[in-house]
Amino acid sequence: MNILIVGSGGREYSIGMALKKDDNVEKLYFAPGNGASDELGENLAISDFNELADFCEANSIDLTIVGPEAPLVEGIVDVFESRGLTIFGPSAQAAQLEGSKIFMKNFLARHNVPTARYIETDSLEEAYKFINTLEAPIVVKADGLCGGKGVIIAQSRDEAKKSAGEMLSGNAFGDAGTKIVVEEFLDGYELSVFAICDGEDYVILPAAQDHKRLLNNDQGPNTGGMGAYAPTPLVNDEIYQKLDERVVIPTLKGMKEEGMPFKGVLFMGVMVVDGEPIILEYNVRFGDPECEELMPLLKSPASDLFYKAATGDLKNATIEFHDKYAVGVVMASKDYPYKSSEPAEIIVDEIVHDDLEANAHISFAGVSRGEDGKLYATGGRVLVCVGIGESIAEAQQRAYMLVGQVHFAGKQCRTDIAYQAL
Ligand code: AMP
Ligand code: GLY
Repeated sequence: MNILIVGSGGREYSIGMALKKDDNVEKLYFAPGNGASDELGENLAISDFNELADFCEANSIDLTIVGPEAPLVEGIVDVFESRGLTIFGPSAQAAQLEGSKIFMKNFLARHNVPTARYIETDSLEEAYKFINTLEAPIVVKADGLCGGKGVIIAQSRDEAKKSAGEMLSGNAFGDAGTKIVVEEFLDGYELSVFAICDGEDYVILPAAQDHKRLLNNDQGPNTGGMGAYAPTPLVNDEIYQKLDERVVIPTLKGMKEEGMPFKGVLFMGVMVVDGEPIILEYNVRFGDPECEELMPLLKSPASDLFYKAATGDLKNATIEFHDKYAVGVVMASKDYPYKSSEPAEIIVDEIVHDDLEANAHISFAGVSRGEDGKLYATGGRVLVCVGIGESIAEAQQRAYMLVGQVHFAGKQCRTDIAYQAL
């Protein structure tokens, strides 16, 4: 099988690593890929969807897997399917589950999926009225895609009103914020749960936990995610069952009934409050860095999972996972997440311990290959060190041993990834 992966991050790199191990896979391509993915496959400098489809036709690509949300929301799947190409991901219509928070909240409400009490509005007066009925903290969200930055947790009613005003005026997030969601704050612990869906059937992956804040103990600003681990012991069978019955099944049924069957990754941002899983949000793609921990736990061939999901054949798939744990630690550049940093050469020490060689690896993200052939840190989140182990503690130890082998000027990482499980 020849496979194209769309995207350039550590998420796409980790999908590439899983496919590289898979005997069914012949050639791998990335569009655009990053400075290290050219070692797993071939990088393509093509972004136009029709040109990518031309490439797939000309090069006998059997399957395209889309990593990030932007091309999904912009309709890459619709273009490919109209040309008879097999692609894993939701249509633009179905991708609204991530592309519009209002669409998502109203969908959840229509199908009785548990979520925080909310209003959606473009009126400041209505926002104020609802805010006056809530106790702080109060959550204010821009409707559209803001690269993960469109959520304000306000510590007072006044702050919530100020945020709502800044968003609605277009000053905070431009057009993405001219409609907003105001909702109650949920106090619990957060999970990332992923269902691979084919429109009708689904496979739930081991539940993961992300670490969104920059600094240890969940301090500092929000980021795209500074590390993750899976499976998390914070989920038991009862929670999985509630997620099946109250969330995934009604969502897939509802999407089908509404004429937009959901195919792709349904990423459930879950808050568990007093043992009850409540949906904070949906995304329509893998989490990054969660994907980097889930891919190595996949025991079945990765091509099987993605191809069967893309072709509506998941009921004929037996998907297995290793009975192990994975911990991933993000190494970020000096000024992340505030501003971009000077390119810095990455040096990885030779790994001389067999144990580390066999049970830890790097998933490369914000890296570029210099003209000198060396690898440079050029993005915010530069790479993820992933450790695998029989326990979370062992996986964590290996991830941090690998972190110690990686050097670039200004590198920063959290030192407590997986703390909630230990
Ligand atoms: P979202 O993009 O909706 O996932 O929001 C980003 C982050 O804000 C989430 O991962 C949560 O940590 C936090 N958050 C969002 N909505 C709520 C809520 N209703 N209650 C508590 N925290 C929230
Ligand atoms: N790590 C969370 C996300 O990808 O949105």
